[in-house]
Amino acid sequence: MKTLSRELLEKLALEYGDSFYVLDSDVFEENCLSLSTEFKKYYDNFNIAYSYKTNYTPKLVKIVNRLGGFAEVVSDMEVEVALRSGVPYEKIIWNGPVKNKEKVKEVLLNGGTVNVDSFNEFECIKTLAEDNPGYVIRIGLRCNYDVGDGVLSRFGFDVEGNDFDSVLKQICEKDNIKLLSLQVHFAERDPKYWTQRTTKILDVYKKVRNEYGIVPERIDLGGGIYGDMPESLSRQLGTEPPCFKDYADKSAKLFADYFKDEENAPMLLIEPGTAVVANCMRYVCRIETIKQICNKTYASTNGSQKNINVCGINLPMQIIGGGRERKQYSDIDLVGYTCIESDCLYSGYSGEIGIGDYVIFSNCGSYSLVMKPPFIFTNVPVIDISGDMVEIIKRAETFDDLFTTYSF
Ligand SMILES: Cc1ncc(COP(=O)(O)O)c(C=O)c1O
Repeated sequence: MKTLSRELLEKLALEYGDSFYVLDSDVFEENCLSLSTEFKKYYDNFNIAYSYKTNYTPKLVKIVNRLGGFAEVVSDMEVEVALRSGVPYEKIIWNGPVKNKEKVKEVLLNGGTVNVDSFNEFECIKTLAEDNPGYVIRIGLRCNYDVGDGVLSRFGFDVEGNDFDSVLKQICEKDNIKLLSLQVHFAERDPKYWTQRTTKILDVYKKVRNEYGIVPERIDLGGGIYGDMPESLSRQLGTEPPCFKDYADKSAKLFADYFKDEENAPMLLIEPGTAVVANCMRYVCRIETIKQICNKTYASTNGSQKNINVCGINLPMQIIGGGRERKQYSDIDLVGYTCIESDCLYSGYSGEIGIGDYVIFSNCGSYSLVMKPPFIFTNVPVIDISGDMVEIIKRAETFDDLFTTYSF
């Protein structure tokens, strides 16, 4: 990753304003490749379906498409991002509990896959299949079971429940509904939950095949994978620094054993978001004021916790000096421009800091700019700096970008 020197930051600030995201799209691509390599070492029939919600920047989704990966989307908005980025319908996998019915029809009639989340959703899809007998409707079923993480997931079908069996029975009776995929996702990212995630979906696969005679072509294990991070961050997250191999050991390896004698073994898919995008983005802002209230020192920045979307965790942070009135401080909080008391980007910093210093936060590519609300400030630009290449891939938002939807 390119070092962000004071000189470079000044240059970027002159052109783009003094707060921005810096992406390294090469790192994103390397992450996608190294994640795939680890899984393919065990199980070659493997692919990734990039989780758009995590960071739907077109530059990134185009990289996944170029590498041959799938688009994992959860809304009509994300379907549109995929299509406008050149992703063919067949490479779209649509998850999520609530979907726009018109767009679902468009995706299904053009060869995309919809992972069904509920019995009610299945009924709508069944009607669509009946109304369009000349089309094959490709669906997946989101499966829900306990993986020992202490979380009761609200998504998908309880694989022990009646709805699951009823849907499977109806799929068997419908000529033009194809159960292409069994899919799961669990949010807890610790690799220790991946063994149960895998063994239980293999049990479901066996049941679907033996009891219903359906042979799904894909098994999709979802996301929930940590990316590369420094020890300072993994310590705060309460995990050992995980690596992609840990996840492959607990999933792809088991697939390789399970399907070793199979000719038509299913494709193994995963839906990485954080794993591939978290560490390829940094966020830059500047110190605006430094003040003392009682015994506490606050440095206000022109950034916000809303830009990096972490709570109670200090992301890896670097101060680039060169500002004025620089002094040594201890236990200072770097706080945001909003009027929310808890808008803190970094708590308990000790070191030298001054007005006009730049602050760089690393590991903030996932659920950051996509979750920044239009609250108080519009969002800042995204600059891709990969090797010697500098490219603006999202300009700063303007007043008109946001207020065009209101009537004045
Ligand atoms: C269905 C699904 N797949 C993939 C992801 C990506 O998860 P992560 O960023 O933890 O990899 C999510 C995140 O919520 C999800 O809901």
